[in-house]
Amino acid sequence: MAEYRIGLGVTGGIAAYKAIEVMRHLQKAGCEVSVAMTRHATEFVRPLTFRALTDRHVIVDDYDPANPDPIAHINFSQEIDLLLIVPATANIIAKFANGIADDFLSSTYLASTAPVLIAPAMNVTMWEHAATQRNLERLKADGVRFVDPVAGELACKTVGTGKLEDVENIVRQALTVLSEPPAVAGGLRVSQRSAGGTIIGRSGNGAVLSDGEVKPPATAGGSDLAGEHILITVGGTREAIDPVRFISNHSSGKMGFAVAAAARDRGAKVTVVAASTSVEPPDGIELIRAISAQEMFDAVMEKVADATVFIGAAAVADYAPANVADMKIKKEGKDGFLLELKKTPDILSEVSKRRSGRQLVIGFAAETNDVIEYAKSKMAKKNLDMVIANDITAQGAGFNTDTNIATILTPQGETALGLMSKRALADKILDEIINLRRSNPANAARSGNS
Ligand SMILES: Cc1cc2nc3c(=O)[nH]c(=O)nc-3n(C[C@H](O)[C@H](O)[C@H](O)COP(=O)(O)O)c2cc1C
Repeated sequence: MAEYRIGLGVTGGIAAYKAIEVMRHLQKAGCEVSVAMTRHATEFVRPLTFRALTDRHVIVDDYDPANPDPIAHINFSQEIDLLLIVPATANIIAKFANGIADDFLSSTYLASTAPVLIAPAMNVTMWEHAATQRNLERLKADGVRFVDPVAGELACKTVGTGKLEDVENIVRQALTVLSEPPAVAGGLRVSQRSAGGTIIGRSGNGAVLSDGEVKPPATAGGSDLAGEHILITVGGTREAIDPVRFISNHSSGKMGFAVAAAARDRGAKVTVVAASTSVEPPDGIELIRAISAQEMFDAVMEKVADATVFIGAAAVADYAPANVADMKIKKEGKDGFLLELKKTPDILSEVSKRRSGRQLVIGFAAETNDVIEYAKSKMAKKNLDMVIANDITAQGAGFNTDTNIATILTPQGETALGLMSKRALADKILDEIINLRRSNPANAARSGNS
């Protein structure tokens, strides 16, 4: 018997072909997938493809006399552990949000008690339209979960948010939803099957089976980072000038949080030391706030001995005001004033100096010119195991974007990566960590270095 049963809804968008990959990954992860398509979806991908790969009838129209189940929307909706929509059009999102049930998929949504995960994909203007945003908020309030689209080049040749998230990330999130506790409000999930027995509930760490055993959450990439404790610095530090003002930078924390979420999903214990960030931190990690470079230095030094990998993803100020004024500095009587700066402690160098043989130390090099040269020199000077170099002036890269363009440097060489979501880049970085462990036996130990 399959571990989880997933109802995969495919709607009429250009990304419909990616639903095939999602289905294959879910099958490889041990899930049984049943597919429902909207009529428009069949214009993009033939139902036969899904039927051949699932060995199941693909339901498009439950009025079709060829349909083997006369009340398919009820039976289908009650035999699944998750309703996953890939890709979701603006249209299906609108229908779900308004309770419209004028075809098989929308009727299934209303008839289902399973959790719902939606991966939208559409043109940026459709995505940003007030109606779509209103519908998304409504569905979120109804408990529906989303794998948000990412920024990138869209099918319509514009660049913006609306591109379907990477297949691997959609699959990971689907498996994560299946491993979460049931929603209390609404009480939707009550009884779900699994290979090891009936799932009667969900714990934070996995599914609680009827025999009381806790099953660890499944992840698409497996648990290839289990045993690792990854310490990551995130965000931009703030260096106080006086009680009102500070020096800072444009870091949003998106890249570091993406690495944290990806590492968590792959089984690592994750500790994040975060300075100022403009996005929400992921769940399921230990979060320590440290706003200035000195505070971040202190927090990292306290935690680093327990970590197997240190990743410096924060934009840490190199200089801070030498003296912080106790009172707000007044402008009266001054045409200008000089601010004396002093060097801040170098977190990455210090972690590198203190490490034991098997701890990996990884840095980012966000540069505006001679990117690879600076990254190589940083790697050599600070004795790093990996540097992720990116040109923050490139379109689609750098601060506050959802995408990045990076080159990963390790002792084995350079890997230049194209435009990708920060989450996809995070997984590439984690893949390189696995490679480093494999390629150098001195790095292979998985236990902490304390
Ligand atoms: C070539 C083409 C590509 C389309 N791509 C998308 C898309 O990516 N996202 C979207 O929301 N709508 C897209 N549409 C519009 C939908 O197909 C249209 O809104 C349709 O009514 C959706 O029906 P459904 O939600 O029942 O599948 C596209 C239409 C065409 C003709």
